Amino acid sequence: MKKGLFITALLLFVGILSGCSTSSNIYTYILDDSYEGFITLGTSADYPPYEWPKQVDGKNTLVGIDIEIAKEIAKALGKNLKVVNKGFDFLLDDLENGKVDFVLAGMTPTEERAQQVDFSMVYYEATQVILIQKSMVNTYTSIESLDQASVRIGAQMGSIQQDLATDTFSVAQTSFIQSIPDLVMRLMDGQVNAVIMEKPVADGYVFNQTSLAIANIQIGDPDGGSAVAVQKGNSELLKVINTVLTSLIESGKMDQIVADAIILNS
Ligand code: ARG
Repeated sequence: MKKGLFITALLLFVGILSGCSTSSNIYTYILDDSYEGFITLGTSADYPPYEWPKQVDGKNTLVGIDIEIAKEIAKALGKNLKVVNKGFDFLLDDLENGKVDFVLAGMTPTEERAQQVDFSMVYYEATQVILIQKSMVNTYTSIESLDQASVRIGAQMGSIQQDLATDTFSVAQTSFIQSIPDLVMRLMDGQVNAVIMEKPVADGYVFNQTSLAIANIQIGDPDGGSAVAVQKGNSELLKVINTVLTSLIESGKMDQIVADAIILNS
């Protein structure tokens, strides 16, 4: 992607998510004319290839792995899909308060979160990586080389990466902010020196922006992955979701969904 275009795409993200502490944006997907009613997904569309905003046929919509999976879940229920797009740090409360029926947001099922919501099986595995400026690849070669008072580590507010940054670094400064594209912009202009995120997301940024690279440093759980969240005790919906996920994985359709999302983001 050309640099100008890439910046425009980043600004689009930041614009869409800014102010989301007070407002949210809602997208509807009519999946079949015979379906009645909607099921409502909560997501945070700043995380390609999981979910991000994109113009499709001249219309602003949300695309990505999680959106496609949510459509399959809605179809299995015979319902159309409504998507509420908010800051990642709002999603679990919205689910708990019944503002949304389920959440897909590249969300890692943690024990702490499992006290508030119930999780499906893991549908997509990914490791954590550290995104840096390419010119720093030979400087930032270890956790110690990053854990300096002059270094600022970024992570998304409310994410496992925020906890990971807090647990891993004791000397470095941190910036925990709501939007990933905003963090990446800060990384590109030097306000932040490293951003922790899931590898598929970092791969997309590296592909689209030649000044960025993934540091050769291991961090986080090597067996991490994303799961769907539902309200605590909603075992009926969870059962449908796990059936849909299993069949997507076993049929190979999940691999196709992931591959399509990666192409769409490049
Ligand atoms: N996997 C991480 C977590 O669960 C980050 C997910 C961020 N997702 C997003 N849509 N921004 O905390």
